[in-house]
Amino acid sequence: MNLNELSRFEIVARQDFSDVTYLLEVRHPMMARAARPGQFVIVMSREHGERIPLTIADFDRDRGTITLVIQAVGKTTREMQQICKPGTALHAMVGPMGIPSPIGHAKKVVCVGGGLGVAPVFPQARGFKENGAYVIGIVGFRSKSLVFWEDKFRSCCDEFILCTDDGSAGIKGLVTEGIRQAIEKHPDIDEVVAIGPPVMMRGCAEATRARKIKTVVSLNPIMVDGTGMCGGCRVKIGDQVRFACVDGPDFDGHLVDFDDLMMRLRRYTQVERAALERWSANCRMKDLADPAAPAVELLELPDPFEEVKGG
Ligand SMILES: Cc1cc2nc3c(=O)[nH]c(=O)nc-3n(C[C@H](O)[C@H](O)[C@H](O)COP(=O)(O)OP(=O)(O)OC[C@H]3O[C@@H](n4cnc5c(N)ncnc54)[C@H](O)[C@@H]3O)c2cc1C
Ligand code: FES
Repeated sequence: MNLNELSRFEIVARQDFSDVTYLLEVRHPMMARAARPGQFVIVMSREHGERIPLTIADFDRDRGTITLVIQAVGKTTREMQQICKPGTALHAMVGPMGIPSPIGHAKKVVCVGGGLGVAPVFPQARGFKENGAYVIGIVGFRSKSLVFWEDKFRSCCDEFILCTDDGSAGIKGLVTEGIRQAIEKHPDIDEVVAIGPPVMMRGCAEATRARKIKTVVSLNPIMVDGTGMCGGCRVKIGDQVRFACVDGPDFDGHLVDFDDLMMRLRRYTQVERAALERWSANCRMKDLADPAAPAVELLELPDPFEEVKGG
């Protein structure tokens, strides 16, 4: 591999699961060789863009690719939804970062994914299966139209429970109902891994607490540098403060202070909303100025750090 290849992050495939969720497969053989379940990358889609952390949802060492599954929730992820197409390249990608999930020698494991969390829990389910564990997969979505990777999960799970909030596919109910059923059927479960929105992970941890089943969750606090320097990603784990980027992102779900995590995630809501509104307004103005312009064309956005100079 030459230097040129090392710094090129070509998007070789894209799949859209819904209006807001899309998959990008990025070619980088060295990253694909190094990646382990539970790790993440920090991505810059363009030179003056924001750096955002994204979990490595899959890696293929033969093809030399890593897979990212992204939900368009704000300015950068929406911008990426517009510009990231096969044949284009990400400006930069750093990783793999974070401590790989310990795929130990548990004999019976439950891997739970809620919504977008279905993607990052997949490499763990596959890792446990490869280690000889009996794997029970539980995935939850709001409704049938949002379901993705069902086949992928079924291929590495001995049992599979699909839950939807509205009952349009699988069992009607939250993933915690799936956990309840799994525990009832298998009193010998060694470990539960749960990835999804904080409120879902908290529910999973509560569902296993009484039986004292080891429960690992993956935390996504706001991250800035991803190197343990800024303290932005600090989380409270029992009576300790830890940094998710270097001490995690996996932690003991029974010890996580989820209220603190959710409070910190909401801290910049107004700034995030303002950035998204500015970006959307710029897009609309661009369209009005030249209705024939291709929708994917890049707009020059204000540098987010310019706006907080001196702050
Ligand atoms: C370790 C880690 C792994 C992640 N993996 C994925 C993934 O695989 N797929 C995916 O779609 N998203 C993932 N995220 C979240 C993703 O980084 C944010 O959604 C993204 O930074 C939002 O940027 P934005 O400009 O589009 O939205 P913003 O307008 O900045 O924010 C929209 C929402 O995203 C949250 N958010 C913003 N910045 C961050 C950040 N740096 N870290 C966490 N949450 C943030 C905010 O609380 C807000 O609710 C991960 C986050 C972490 C920390
Ligand atoms: S992101 Fe800065 S310390 Fe973790």
